[in-house]
Amino acid sequence: MQILIVGLGYVGSVAAAGLAYAGHEVIGTEIDREKLEGYINGTLPIYEPGLDDLIKQGVSEERLKFQHISEIERITAPVVMICVGTPSRPDGAADISQVKKVISWVRERVTAPTTLVMKSTVPPGTGKKLISDYLGESTGKISYVSNPEFLREGQAVKDWFNPDRIVLGGYDNKAIELVKSLYDNIDAPFVITDVTSAELIKYAANAFLATRISFINEIANLCDYLDADIQDVAQGIGLDPRIGSSFLKAGIGYGGSCFPKDVRALDFLAMVNGHEFELLRSVINVNNKQPVLAVQKLRRELGTLNNKRISLLGLAFKPGTDDLREAPALKIIRLLQDEGARVQAYDPVANKKAAVSLGLDEGITFCSTIWDALHGAEAAIIATEWEEFIELDWEKAKEKMAEPYLILDGRNCLSPNVMQELGFKYLGMGRRAKLKNF
Ligand code: UDX
Repeated sequence: MQILIVGLGYVGSVAAAGLAYAGHEVIGTEIDREKLEGYINGTLPIYEPGLDDLIKQGVSEERLKFQHISEIERITAPVVMICVGTPSRPDGAADISQVKKVISWVRERVTAPTTLVMKSTVPPGTGKKLISDYLGESTGKISYVSNPEFLREGQAVKDWFNPDRIVLGGYDNKAIELVKSLYDNIDAPFVITDVTSAELIKYAANAFLATRISFINEIANLCDYLDADIQDVAQGIGLDPRIGSSFLKAGIGYGGSCFPKDVRALDFLAMVNGHEFELLRSVINVNNKQPVLAVQKLRRELGTLNNKRISLLGLAFKPGTDDLREAPALKIIRLLQDEGARVQAYDPVANKKAAVSLGLDEGITFCSTIWDALHGAEAAIIATEWEEFIELDWEKAKEKMAEPYLILDGRNCLSPNVMQELGFKYLGMGRRAKLKNF
C-alpha cells in the first residue's frame, strides 16, 4: 500500500522504515530541509539503533523515498500518517498547531479517498474536534484513525516490530480495517476503540509510568532519611506480580520528549475540563524536585559548590539516545552553574547537541573524553546510566579526580560497596550509606 508519512522525527522515521520493511511503498516527507537531506544522504539526523540499516534497505529496495513537503502537489496515497511534534506550550497544554497545519495541507491536496492516521500524541478529544472542524466537508474522502505509538527512544526499531499492543481508535470500520492491515507482519494484540479512548490510552500509559517513577523516587527519598536501600525495596516490591519490577528505578527523575510533556498536557486537559488531577500534580512536583535534591546532596558534602570542579557524566535523558529534551542532566547543570560550580560535562553521544543547546557558557566545559571530564574533579555526578560509566575503570578514574572523590550516582547504576572499597565517597539516590556487612 502507498503510505505518505508527514514528519520524520523519532516516530515518523521509524514508522517509515518499518512500514517499508513490511512491503509498503512509503514516502517520508518533512518541512525541515536539512533533516530531509540527512535521510536522503544516509546521514540520519537522529541516533536510533538499527534505524540506519533499515532505512538503507528500504531505499535500496525502492520502497522508501524521501521528498520535501513543498514538492508534493497531489496526494493519492490511501494512507497519510501524521507524525509531527506536539510540544508543550508554556501553560503546559500540548501545542497541536503543526498537526492542524498538516491536516489543512492534506485537505488541499488530496485527490483520492484517504485515511489520516494520527500517530502524533494529541490530547484526548482532539481527534473528534479535528474531524468536525477540518474533515466534516470532506466526509467520504478523508477518514480518521487514531493510532498512538508507544516507541521508546533507543529501542524504537525493536519496539516497532515487537509492540505490546496496537491501539486503533476510529468511527469508520473500513478505515480501521485498512490501518490494521498495515501491521499484518506484526504479532500483537489490537485494542480497537473510539478516537478519544485511543488518545487517552496513550496519555494514561505515559502518566501511569511517570507515576511509578515518581512513586519510587519518593520511596528513595524516604530511604535517605531512614538509611534504607531503595534497590532492595524496589526488588522486594517488584517481585509481587501485581506490582512488577519495571519502571521502579529511582534516580534524578524522568526526562525525554514524552513523559514530561504528556503528563503536563494531561494535567492541563483535566484542569480545563474542571477536574483537579491532584495525583498528577504530585508526580510532576516530585520529578521537578529530584535534580534539586541531587545538587543539595553535593552541597551538603562539599560545603559550597562555588568554584568546585564537578564532573557531570551523561547528558542524554537516558542511555542509547542523544536526545536531551527535558534531560535531568541539563537541569542539574543549570543548578550547578547558579551555585558557581565549574562543570566538566561528558556524554558518549550527546556532547555536541548539548553544547549547541546550552551554549558555551562560562562555567561549563564539554569534554571529549571521560578522563578529561574527571580531571581534577572533586565530585562526579552520574546523570545517565551509560554502559561506559558502569564498565569504567573506576580505579583509574579516582587517580584523575581530586579529594574527596565524591560520586553522586544519580541513576543508582554503580555498586556502593565496590565504589567505597575503591576509596570513593559514594552517594546514591536512596542508597544505604554504609557498606553492607551482612
Ligand atoms: C516513553 C515511553 O516508555 C514510550 O512508551 C512512549 O512512547 C514515549 O515515552 P522514552 O521517552 O523513550 O519512552 O523513555 P523511557 O525509556 O520510557 O524513559 C523515560 C524516562 O524515565 C527516562 O528519563 C528514564 O531515565 C526515566 N526512568 C525510566 C526512570 O527514571 N526510572 C525508571 O524506572 C524508568
